[in-house]
Amino acid sequence: MKITGRKITLTGRVTPDEESIKTAATVDEKVKDRFERPLISFRISVTNRCNVNCFYCHHDGIVPRNYEMTAEEMERICRVAKSLGIEKIRLSGGEPLVRDDIVEIVRRIASVGFRDISITTNGVLLGRYAEKLFKAGLNRINISFDTLNPETYRFITRRDYMELARDGIKKAVKVGLNPVKVNMVVMKGINDHEIWDMFQFCRENGVILQLIELLKTENCEESESLKKYHYDVRKLEDELAELSTKVKKRRFMQDRKKYFIEGGEIEVVRPMDNTQFCKNCTRLRLTPDGKIKPCLLRNDNLVDIIEPMRRGYSDEELKKVFLKAVNNREPFYTDFDDAQGSE
Ligand code: GTP
Ligand code: 5AD
Repeated sequence: MKITGRKITLTGRVTPDEESIKTAATVDEKVKDRFERPLISFRISVTNRCNVNCFYCHHDGIVPRNYEMTAEEMERICRVAKSLGIEKIRLSGGEPLVRDDIVEIVRRIASVGFRDISITTNGVLLGRYAEKLFKAGLNRINISFDTLNPETYRFITRRDYMELARDGIKKAVKVGLNPVKVNMVVMKGINDHEIWDMFQFCRENGVILQLIELLKTENCEESESLKKYHYDVRKLEDELAELSTKVKKRRFMQDRKKYFIEGGEIEVVRPMDNTQFCKNCTRLRLTPDGKIKPCLLRNDNLVDIIEPMRRGYSDEELKKVFLKAVNNREPFYTDFDDAQGSE
């Protein structure tokens, strides 16, 4: 990372962020897995379809299938999730905005009454949907946007949509979604020289920059060739710490750190081989075809919830299905001492 200009020395200690403090107050009452991790957030992949084709995509850990749950089915599952103490919903994909009924999905889920509803999108269709989504009850949004260079954008996504995505980011801020985050997957030799420009872009537009380590998973078709692009985010974190006036830790959000630098904010997502990340994971996932997925990086412990729901299970019975998935949760990367869990 090439940072020019005045260097600021770290004056603040690492403190928990407000979200962690708020959550800590209620955490004793939460459903916990065998590793004492509370269940706080639920990430619903609403479709496998996508309108870009990023070469590194981990497809949110999902094996492609054609079937997609209806908005009504998602609402019912979210009601059960809420009754188990889940506070936060994130909608992802594929690309969630390719679903014609995405506004309806948000409206229905918002009617359940969660503390936080967010979407992760590539932003290409945000110009069309941002305002409607906000009015339907969406609180905040993360937008995958790895580069400010049209050629690099084309190389990564195999599409020519950079300007649409960039305008989508601005539109999200304008309509009042807050916070808006830009997800930048940092890749050696592709966009690592753009980190500072991206930070300037984000700061100018009132957006948080989320720097993401490139993740290698079995769900990425080009998994092996990704190695050459891997960028060591740890070194970057040392540099960010030096430049920051304040650093905060998201305790119930995989222990990620947020760095506050010259009026802007950078969050770092570093999951690879990171035992702290897994130890502080509080998330369950749902695949588009209605299976609860305990971990992004595994596909061998999914629990089907749509099938029992269609067979007429009551809410109480569906809660048990959820609890089975919670019981299947295991940290993917572990320290030896943490690996056992409790029975
Ligand atoms: P917020 O910070 O609350 O906005 O959520 P988020 O950052 O998790 O959501 P987003 O969809 O923007 O994901 C950002 C990055 O985190 C992506 O690159 C994901 O691959 C990665 N990530 C999210 N959840 C997990 C997880 O459960 N395990 C791993 N290993 N990586 C994850
Ligand atoms: N490594 C890291 N992040 C990835 N994403 C997709 N594939 C990968 C990968 N292999 C990011 C996208 C999106 C978020 C859901 O996951 O950029 O922002």
